[in-house]
Amino acid sequence: MINLLRQVFGALYQRTKVKSASTCEGVCATLPRRSVPTLNRLASFFFPDFWDISEPEKFAEIVKDFTKQLPHGYHASDNFITWGRNNSMFDDLAFIKAWEDNIESLADRGIIWRRYVLATSAFHCIQLEGDFVECGAYTGVGVKTVVDYLGGVNFPKQFWAYDVFEHQQGMTNKPMPEVSSELFDRVNRKFADYQQVRVVKGHIPDSFKNNCPDQIAYLHIDLNEASSEVATLKYLFDRVVQGGMVILDDYEWSGIYRPQKLAEDEWFDSRHYRVMPLPTGQGLIIKR
Ligand SMILES: C[S@@+](CC[C@H](N)C(=O)[O-])C[C@H]1O[C@@H](n2cnc3c(N)ncnc32)[C@H](O)[C@@H]1O
Repeated sequence: MINLLRQVFGALYQRTKVKSASTCEGVCATLPRRSVPTLNRLASFFFPDFWDISEPEKFAEIVKDFTKQLPHGYHASDNFITWGRNNSMFDDLAFIKAWEDNIESLADRGIIWRRYVLATSAFHCIQLEGDFVECGAYTGVGVKTVVDYLGGVNFPKQFWAYDVFEHQQGMTNKPMPEVSSELFDRVNRKFADYQQVRVVKGHIPDSFKNNCPDQIAYLHIDLNEASSEVATLKYLFDRVVQGGMVILDDYEWSGIYRPQKLAEDEWFDSRHYRVMPLPTGQGLIIKR
């Protein structure tokens, strides 16, 4: 009898699992089609976005000269100089369109590789249960690049975009140039046609209270402040679904960002995770 029950319930469980996997059918329709690269064509990228050095303009000239010595397939921007790469983001035409359509600042152009890490993570996460979350949405460009890559106004998930939008007393991070009393309205206007994007104004973690999803597939944390980032992890990490991804924008940067890594390593260590440091300066965790 027990074996019979096991067989019946086991079969039901299997069917449920197959059914949830097939939810991809709807979502997969919004996935961008792969653009097929040409074997002998490699893109290179130079953009003078270098920081944490005393003379950035002079440094950019030196780097530009240096790239003349390099074979194709170099990337020189966002403090990340390398060569002999596929530069895959340039082969993904849907991404290039989303990225170009959303460039508002020099930094938005310079951090293309970081944006592609977000876009490809989102490509994975959109096929899971759970919502999308960005903590530290700022001008909304990171959110909108991902949303436009994965369907634009037909993006098939709810995307929660949190930010305080105005620098407040007591915040220890350096204020971003465009935070102001108008930024929240500006970001809301940007998403006026995107019903799926919910812009939440307020200080994290207080702004999560009664106002955040139960299940999260994609969690991008970019607050430039160790205490707020760890508070975010405490509040949201348990809501990240199995296979969901957490991207820590500044994990692998040193200098003023190093306290973030130190605090996050301690937090993740107690949960038996080790953050994958990416050469872009980001850190990546895949939820078990
Ligand atoms: C580096 S910017 C985010 C950039 C954005 N993710 C992008 O890709 O363009 C950091 C943002 O975090 C916000 N921020 C920092 N601490 C915060 C907190 N405790 N609560 C809410 N927002 C916060 C700032 O207002 C700022 O807009």
